[in-house]
Amino acid sequence: MKKIIFFNTSPRDESHSRKASEILKKLFEPEKYTAETFNFRDHVIGPCKACLECRSTGGICSQKDDMNDICEKLLRSDIFVFSFPMYMGQMNSQAKIFMDRLFAYAIRKKGKKKKQRLIMLASHGSTEKSLFKTYIKNTAKAFEYLGFEVLDAITFSGSARPVDSQPELFKKLKEISETLYD
Ligand SMILES: Cc1cc2nc3c(=O)[nH]c(=O)nc-3n(C[C@H](O)[C@H](O)[C@H](O)COP(=O)(O)O)c2cc1C
Repeated sequence: MKKIIFFNTSPRDESHSRKASEILKKLFEPEKYTAETFNFRDHVIGPCKACLECRSTGGICSQKDDMNDICEKLLRSDIFVFSFPMYMGQMNSQAKIFMDRLFAYAIRKKGKKKKQRLIMLASHGSTEKSLFKTYIKNTAKAFEYLGFEVLDAITFSGSARPVDSQPELFKKLKEISETLYD
């Protein structure tokens, strides 16, 4: 039984990126996976303080907030679905806070062969598809540096049409869900 962690960073009630994440969750065959969902707004996760204590503690952060537990669950998972909205051409600040804190996760991971497979889901307002290509490519590289195997990054306009009536997005989500059974 594989484990999937969903982590959503949008602060909005009717979040487009979270909606895409929920659609993907429904596409996985429940008998093959266990899933756990975290929403940034429901947790206490402080920004990295750059104290680098994690280097001398084997990846345990000096901040005693929710991130240590989430890191541990992430390490035991197989697939990580990370959703975020684009603000000012980049991931929102909540997503960035989370990502910086994965520095400690990368330290805990050292020596472990298993790689978590990552799927990014990024919603934006613009209907111009290529706008975020370079940013997403660089973000994928940063996740690889942290020790993830980046499977896919799906970007879509959340504002143009309701997320659950975008056939192209649904097709991509369906395809990615099917590649995860191997
Ligand atoms: C502060 C702020 C900055 C934004 N910057 C951009 C941007 O640079 N490009 C863009 O296409 N959309 C931008 N948007 C729109 C959001 O990315 C878009 O509404 C997205 O679908 C929101 O996702 P969510 O519903 O999951 O929060 C911005 C929205 C906010 C609130």
